[in-house]
Amino acid sequence: MNRENFGTRLGAILAAAGSAVGLGNVWRFPIETGQNGGAVFIIIYILCIIFLGMPVMISEFLIGRYTHSNTAGAYRILSKGGQWHWLGKIGVYTGWFILCYYAVVGGWTLHYTYLSLINAFDDVKAAEFSNIFNDFVGNPWIPLLWFYLFMLFTHYVITRGVQSGIERASKILMPTLFIIVIFLAVSAVMLPGASAGVEFLLSPDWSKVDSKTVIEAMGQAFFSLSLGMGCLCTYASYFDESTPLAKTAVHVSVIDTMIAILAGFIIFPSVFNIGMNPNDVGVGASLTFISLPNVFQQALGEGSLMSVIFSSLFYFLLFVAALTSAISLHEVATAYVTEEFGMTRSKGAMLVTVVVLVFGSLCSLSFGPLSNITILNRNIFSVFDDLSGMILLPLGVMFISLFAGWRLDKELYREEISNHGDLPTPYFRLLIFSLRFLIPIAISLVFLDQLGLFKAIFK
Ligand code: PFF
Repeated sequence: MNRENFGTRLGAILAAAGSAVGLGNVWRFPIETGQNGGAVFIIIYILCIIFLGMPVMISEFLIGRYTHSNTAGAYRILSKGGQWHWLGKIGVYTGWFILCYYAVVGGWTLHYTYLSLINAFDDVKAAEFSNIFNDFVGNPWIPLLWFYLFMLFTHYVITRGVQSGIERASKILMPTLFIIVIFLAVSAVMLPGASAGVEFLLSPDWSKVDSKTVIEAMGQAFFSLSLGMGCLCTYASYFDESTPLAKTAVHVSVIDTMIAILAGFIIFPSVFNIGMNPNDVGVGASLTFISLPNVFQQALGEGSLMSVIFSSLFYFLLFVAALTSAISLHEVATAYVTEEFGMTRSKGAMLVTVVVLVFGSLCSLSFGPLSNITILNRNIFSVFDDLSGMILLPLGVMFISLFAGWRLDKELYREEISNHGDLPTPYFRLLIFSLRFLIPIAISLVFLDQLGLFKAIFK
């Protein structure tokens, strides 16, 4: 089959960075940093990226580029008749599964961009922001329509193909995202009282660091780098033979971490400016759609032009970040159905989109008409969110590192990362050590922790 490649190296980096930079950078990382000792958390996070995240990223790149196949095909080729082929299939379905709820939130970012643009938050009392959000997500229609619109954008890019779809979109959207992040961070840091926010984010507080901190940093690093399922493997299957894999992994990780830290510079100065307790801002949806609209109004002047600009740009930024990640999730499944079942790209993309629309609608409606359906006290949306974040992704990362560390031929590994001897690989032994031991042990600790066993053993 004739496969497309990315046309330029920059395009490849921006596409992979687009996958990594997503909602996780903005709505989780800054708050986790704030709550876990500021600079100490950032240092631990960076160590997790270097020693745990990058080896897996390089391995996923290698598996994709070596096979030039969709993720299921890639693991099948490399497992040579063994059982490891399951890993690829599970990766594909994990990505597809994540997209169902991730795109629902993508729809929320569009709605909030619209509300900001029409200045709908003018004159709203602080306590009313949670009603606005709850009424919105509880409405049977409005969130669905925004979700469908978000999927329409994603679908459109995917149907255009690798170069004129994904690569082109990344080359437009990622620079746009960088400019908005820098503009917002600079504006926020110039607010009166902002320095306390910067200090809160960056001053190391060792007293807040414990095993939980390390575990949170690790989980966040994996999610933020889009590891553990097929995204980076699929994108790397469009890399050409001269792409330096380790260097690309460094570029992607640096971009992802910089954006996450800059998001902290947007959020905390604004929070401190209005004298709000940073521990009260919440995390995830409640931070993003309840606390922050209020914070921005008060910090920049209620209903003022500046607050309209700032808040519209902030939600548009979230939208762009979510869109580029959603495109990468969609591509994993599209590449799979087109290559494994011989469909045309447009039919394959349509199948993926329709499935996401069906399950995503259930996720969306689980805040309203379907809120009475719960599993283990979670609504459908949270089942999707928790199952993927807490179980499927960490397991995916663990098995990928076991596969790359133990099963893949070491000579093949070295040949690929050195581009057949063209590039030096002084880090090779450390990389293999990390894949074989460090990562599997670290993730096992996360699972022990989730089962509550960690506390019992290391009390
Ligand atoms: N890395 C994205 C974020 O930080 O929001 C989310 C994500 C995308 C996770 C793709 C996993 C994935 F495969």
